[in-house]
This record gives sequence, structure tokens and C-alpha cells, in this order.
Amino acid sequence: MKEEKLRIAIQKSGRLNEDSLKILKDAGISIDNGKEQLKASARNFPVEVLYLRNGDIPQYLRDGVVDVAILGENVLIEKGKDIIRGEKLGFSKCRVSLAVPKSVKYNGIQDLEGKKIATSYPNTVKDYLAEKGISADLHIINGSVEIAPNIGLADAICDIVSSGSTLFKNNLKEAEVMLKSEAILAISPNISEARQAILDKLQFRLKSVLNART
Ligand code: PRP
Ligand code: MG
Repeated sequence: MKEEKLRIAIQKSGRLNEDSLKILKDAGISIDNGKEQLKASARNFPVEVLYLRNGDIPQYLRDGVVDVAILGENVLIEKGKDIIRGEKLGFSKCRVSLAVPKSVKYNGIQDLEGKKIATSYPNTVKDYLAEKGISADLHIINGSVEIAPNIGLADAICDIVSSGSTLFKNNLKEAEVMLKSEAILAISPNISEARQAILDKLQFRLKSVLNART
């Protein structure tokens, strides 16, 4: 009989990749870094690791193609409200913020009424603005969002802020912090019982690692 394995997704490349592999390693699960192959197995624990694009992971979890993932909570807030949230993992801390050009005087959210906002997080922005009773024109782009005001594409942007250096380099200032995020264990709402049993073991190990880190 084929051995049951837990399918875990991690970010293919980018900020989460290294720390995700590190926490799995600290939990005693060693796998390759995914630079060569997009799928790898651990030698000593029944898991299979898939290296995927962040934004695709919620759909894979929903479909049950992947059982569990390590990704930014901000991605779940944007497009994975139905995905089960497990342990917060303490790394990749960031904010999702609205920012405006440094040269603009910012008095408050009302300044964004009727303005054009470039973002990769349309749902998050929509929810936030709706709650504040503001309506704005959203322009969705997938990367290099901070360039938008400089090229006349938007009045403001909404994106992830970590060190703040991307905002700084693009002459922008943080206007509103919409939410705070960090890496989290994201669990499929359709996980099988057999794989849930493996996940229980993984979560137990991760909790010990997190305890030891604090
Ligand atoms: C991410 C994010 C911000 C930046 C924030 O972009 O979209 O632009 O990092 O980090 P910082 O505050 O430390 O500068 P990334 O570099 O991943 O590129 P992309 O937006 O083009 O995908
Ligand atoms: Mg960026």
C-alpha cells in the first residue's frame, strides 16, 4: 500500500521560502530547497513539499490538492477567508498599508475619497475602505506597486510594508496601517482524516519549536 503523506505547500521563492524551510528543519523535517524541483519529499517524515506561488496557495488548499501551507496571513485575509488558520509562526512579520507620496499632505482616510489606489490586495482595500465609508478607484497590479504614483498611475498605493525601504526609495510615506501579518499555518478545509493525523504530529513539533524560540 502507498504510504499516506501530508502535502505541504511553501513559497517557491521570496521572503517566506527560507524561513519556512528553516522551521520545518527545526521540527526535524529536512527537505531540499525547491530550486531544482517543485516537489520534494522529506526523508524522515511523511510529508511531500510543493513549492508554489503565494497567491495560488489558497485555491490549492480549498481544492484539497494541498493539505497545509506556510504563508502570510495577509494572503488568507485577501483571498482565503474560508481556509482554516493554525499556529502563527513568528516570522515574516509585515504590515499591509496604504501609502501616499511624501510631498502630499495627508490628513486622514477621507483624503482618499474618489482617488485612484494601486494595489495587489483589492479585497483587503475594498473591505477597509467600505468600513470607513470611503469609495476609491482601485487599480490592480501584481508587483512593483510602489512605482504607480511616480508614473502617474495612481494617487496612492496599498502594499506590504516590512522594513519600509521600498516606500522610502519611491518617495512614499505610510498613511494607514490596515493590518498586521506574519507567517501562519494554513489548513485545508477538506483535509482527510489520515492526513489530519500526520498534521497533528507536525503541529505538535512546530509548537515545541515555537516554544523553544521564545
Ligand atoms: C514586497 C512588497 C513591498 C516590499 C515591502 O515586494 O510588495 O513592495 O516587498 O518590503 P520592504 O518594506 O522591506 O521594502 P517584493 O520585493 O517582494 O516585490 P514585488 O512587489 O515586485 O513582488
Ligand atoms: Mg513590492
